[in-house]
Amino acid sequence: MTLSIGTRLNRNVLVYKGIQPRILVDGNNYEDASLYRSRGGYRELDDEVAFLNDVSASGLRGRGGAAFPVAVKLASVRTAAGDSVVVANGEEGEPTSVKDRWLLRHRPHLVLDGLRLAAQVVGTMTAVVYLSDSPARDRVEKALEELRGDASFGLQVTVVQVEPSYVAGEETAAVQAINGGPALPTDKPPRPFEEGVAGLPTLVNNVETLANLALLHQLGPEGYRRVGTDNSPGTFLMTLSTAAGASLCEVPFGVTLREVLSWSGIDPDGVRGFLMGGYFAGVIGPRALDLSLDYDVYASAGTGLGCGAVIILDEETCAVATSAAVMTYFGRENAAQCGSCFNGTSAMANVLESLRDSAADLAELDRLKRWSTFLRGRGACGTLDGATNVAASLLREFPDSVEVHLRGACPSCETGKFPSYPPYGVSYAADDV
Ligand SMILES: Cc1cc2nc3c(=O)[nH]c(=O)nc-3n(C[C@H](O)[C@H](O)[C@H](O)COP(=O)(O)O)c2cc1C
Ligand code: SF4
Repeated sequence: MTLSIGTRLNRNVLVYKGIQPRILVDGNNYEDASLYRSRGGYRELDDEVAFLNDVSASGLRGRGGAAFPVAVKLASVRTAAGDSVVVANGEEGEPTSVKDRWLLRHRPHLVLDGLRLAAQVVGTMTAVVYLSDSPARDRVEKALEELRGDASFGLQVTVVQVEPSYVAGEETAAVQAINGGPALPTDKPPRPFEEGVAGLPTLVNNVETLANLALLHQLGPEGYRRVGTDNSPGTFLMTLSTAAGASLCEVPFGVTLREVLSWSGIDPDGVRGFLMGGYFAGVIGPRALDLSLDYDVYASAGTGLGCGAVIILDEETCAVATSAAVMTYFGRENAAQCGSCFNGTSAMANVLESLRDSAADLAELDRLKRWSTFLRGRGACGTLDGATNVAASLLREFPDSVEVHLRGACPSCETGKFPSYPPYGVSYAADDV
């Protein structure tokens, strides 16, 4: 039996104790252009080189999953010859994350301001907002309507909406879709910064990254660095899910999950582990409670923050069943373009489902272990890396749970309480704008 562990977004948006909110400044209210301007937005940018230096000094890193330094990407597109394009990536294919849709629905001007700044730095007037959420599209179009005739904005923005899918937000899928093709990843090279939309060098940044670029313009690099850590400055949006529901939280880098959970009223000692970065970074045991929320600390621990989605595995939730559900998702949602990914994800899902049902043997586990390293780095996009992360992290972090399943005695799985599909997917209804 599969009992539903679905999660619905709590209407409250939460700002971590003791910090000035940067993004979640006004609950769920819509911020129009004049309110955004009154908060310091759309200030003229008179020196692109100085601003690019500020971006570098701020240490701003991308919020789309890979934490790539924003200044490096801006500089590569700026130095490319000829015209270029900038893309705000708000597709948010990760089912456990709602932060990008929230931003586009509630603070579209913060994203558009970041897009304008990025465009000015790379030297273009051509921009695309790429998304899949209809309420987000309505709000972005409303925001653009408010800017119509405003010479100080001056950017040509096209909104491109696609059907949501796990891979549609990957940057080459975004480029291919904007160019009129299917929203599926393509082989690299070329990468979008070399050849992207209409064959031009293209800057693809996540919408939360662009929101931070606009905040950095207002705060300056020192002000920006006032919260966070040296390597992960600022705050980030965390979609925090339990079996009971999900919340959107603005959290400073550098605090720990133990602190975040205690602050949000969840007993850290009742936690069995986490599913990190949405599905991408795999599972981790309670040792994550005391890691500093910092991109590099998480990477050194063999996991990742990804897009900032954190799922709490409570005492009743089995890490094997969770990993099996996520791998089944990868097996169904991969783009079926690359043999290694198409076959590898379903082969790993078969072993994990069989382990969950206490039907796997040691030979199958050995194969899973081998695949979890051998398949890494294959396929056109990073999906197979996410899938191998899930398998490898389960074997590394939860050997006791694996052992219990080999013996056929997992009390959690005996209840039949497995995650629904997509596992821990957060629903964000259209009327929850
Ligand atoms: C399978 C896959 C799915 C992705 N989905 C998204 C997505 O939904 N949204 C997003 O912003 N980035 C997504 N990314 C990352 C993008 O490829 C790209 O790195 C990102 O948009 C760059 O923005 P950033 O540098 O501001 O983080 C995905 C990557 C992979 C491998
Ligand atoms: S790696 Fe997987 S998800 Fe990515 S393009 Fe290939 S088949 Fe599709």
